[in-house]
Amino acid sequence: MSMQFAVTPTDHPTSDKARAEILANPAFGKVFTDHMVTATYTEGQGWHDGVLTAYGPTLVDPASVVLHYGQTVFEGMKAYRQPDGGVSLFRPERNARRMAKSSERLALPQLPEELFLESLELLVKQDQAWVPNGEGASLYLRPFIWATEVGLGVRPSASALYQLIASPSGNYFSGPLRPVSLWLSQEYTRSAPGGTGAAKCGGNYAASLIAQQEAIANGCDQVVFLDAGEHRWLEELGGMNIFLVLDDGTLVTPEVSGTILEGITRDSIITIAKDLGHTVEERRVDVDEWRKGAVDGRVVEVFACGTAAVITPIGALRWPGGEAVAGTGEPGTITMKLRNALMDVQYGRAEDTYGWMRRVV
Ligand code: PLP
Ligand code: COI
Repeated sequence: MSMQFAVTPTDHPTSDKARAEILANPAFGKVFTDHMVTATYTEGQGWHDGVLTAYGPTLVDPASVVLHYGQTVFEGMKAYRQPDGGVSLFRPERNARRMAKSSERLALPQLPEELFLESLELLVKQDQAWVPNGEGASLYLRPFIWATEVGLGVRPSASALYQLIASPSGNYFSGPLRPVSLWLSQEYTRSAPGGTGAAKCGGNYAASLIAQQEAIANGCDQVVFLDAGEHRWLEELGGMNIFLVLDDGTLVTPEVSGTILEGITRDSIITIAKDLGHTVEERRVDVDEWRKGAVDGRVVEVFACGTAAVITPIGALRWPGGEAVAGTGEPGTITMKLRNALMDVQYGRAEDTYGWMRRVV
């Protein structure tokens, strides 16, 4: 693949003062940097016309396939400021491979890994001044591919656009780190065997929104989904994987079975936890193991994990007429130990013994 990205920097960059104000208090995914990357796919021609340009709107034909049939995939990853002022990505080749898998599932063209990585490096280098410094802050990167063919026939689009945008971001959950509460969805599922649950595609998130609304209406922060068949086995949150910590220090997390997203944070935590001496079980997890374990003391901590959420402690699990709180309901010691160990690698405070970091600046 020999596509080169043509670089045309913006002629109206954000002033240093305005950027400093944004970086002093970044929210999540609200403000975007000065530039973006775009590449076009056309059947028969492959990927072409890769460009880095000023960030801005894209003209979309109202009959574009993506608007009607949701043929689109995305990724989420972060660039981290390092102690010496440089900038590194965390396991970006994993995101490249996962986006290719998601694209395959959605019958979209796959972007070659080297183009994916090149686009990330290009944008992060160009907008390096946008990588924040503060604790827990980073530059969130959002690569995505969407179907651009014009026409209402239900078939894979013959053309697509790859785009990459970046947003200086702080915590996904606003305010200081606190345990979040989960609503156990009774009615809705996000995924079924043979469906798209293992792909990072827009439709999964659209389908989760009504359940998330229900969670909020019931005073919870997030929804947690069970399996579609028996409504018994824990799957994941709308945008995060989940772990239980048992009283002997064992970590338990739902196995990768085709219905959950194979999180890169999840995988990294499994590696780190094993190195720290924990047993990690990837298996089916009955929600009653959590409910009963919260009462009899077997389940002592629960946490969610993902790029945006990093590791977020979970307090209460609620369902109509009931509640379970594992441990004290406050951030657990193992949760926080793993969170710190992961962030120490990402922010370059600990040696990168796994070769996970990719330096770009
Ligand atoms: N599960 C879902 C549904 C997600 O959207 C995400 C976020 O990307 C995750 C899990 C966590 O994946 P990762 O750790 O690769 O960010
Ligand atoms: C991420 O963690 O990167 C996600 O994509 C989750 C959510 C923001 C959709």
